[in-house]
Amino acid sequence: MTTFETREALTEALSLHRAKGVSVGFVPTMGALHKGHISLVSRCRSENEVVVVSIFVNPSQFNDKNDLALYPRTFRSDVEKLQAAGCDFLFAPEVEEMYPEEDRRQFDFGMLDKVMEGVSRPGHFNGVAQIVSKLFDTIQPQKAYFGEKDFQQLAIIRRMVGMLHYPVEIVGCPIVREAGGLAMSSRNTRLTEEQLRHAPVIADTLFRSRQKIAHTPLEELKRQVKDRIDNTGGMKVEYFEIVDRETLQPATGYRKNALQGCIAVQVGAVRLIDNISY
Ligand code: PAJ
Repeated sequence: MTTFETREALTEALSLHRAKGVSVGFVPTMGALHKGHISLVSRCRSENEVVVVSIFVNPSQFNDKNDLALYPRTFRSDVEKLQAAGCDFLFAPEVEEMYPEEDRRQFDFGMLDKVMEGVSRPGHFNGVAQIVSKLFDTIQPQKAYFGEKDFQQLAIIRRMVGMLHYPVEIVGCPIVREAGGLAMSSRNTRLTEEQLRHAPVIADTLFRSRQKIAHTPLEELKRQVKDRIDNTGGMKVEYFEIVDRETLQPATGYRKNALQGCIAVQVGAVRLIDNISY
């Protein structure tokens, strides 16, 4: 695996491969890698001749500067994990390399960012689109891999690719969970032991809601989900929405295989998200 810190060096290395007509797959990350990220890299490895992974903690998507400051950074172990997963090129630029000047672009995602994370984290998805578009411009992958863990992000990226006509196939990958169900997240490392014991209730409650949804009114189901999690030590549901999987707008009634339940929970100082398909 070769590590690049500048766009110029990465572009040059990639152009040698592209000249031979090989396929380039790309996995963008913010590092602090876990098995969720690695599942994306493995999928990318199996479907492309050249695998590019980026590690860049993107300031423009953090509306909470404290969250940015506390975001875990584990570069050395990330490098080992990527090597083991068969990554060819690691792109790990500094902030100045990606933002030599402020990015003032404003994307219009229609209704997609008027709900859930878009409301809770103003400007977050605009920042995600800024960095992902810059990374796509540099890497020009044929395929790019994103986790369903960030369900709304995946919808936003698909919209961005449609709007900007990027010739890239977006591949959505299933959520990887801990044995107890907790969705893997870089932020889990910030949970205390006690919070880690409680946090699996989030996924467990979502799984239970799947058993109930066909015969429970949605408003009642939403209330049950919130109550159970709010009544578990130190947790507070920020939102739980049952939405149409395509439009992300609130669902009015149950439709098989068409809905997604999306949740954000404050666990002490840490904010976790998860989701489930119905
Ligand atoms: P990050 O949170 O590091 O996640 C990188 C990718 O890994 C995302 O596509 C995310 O959905 C996926 N991922 C995270 N946890 C996962 C899990 N438990 N199972 C499956 N996939 C998982 O998402 C970002 O970074 C950034 O917003 C980024 C797209 C890199 C732009 O800065």
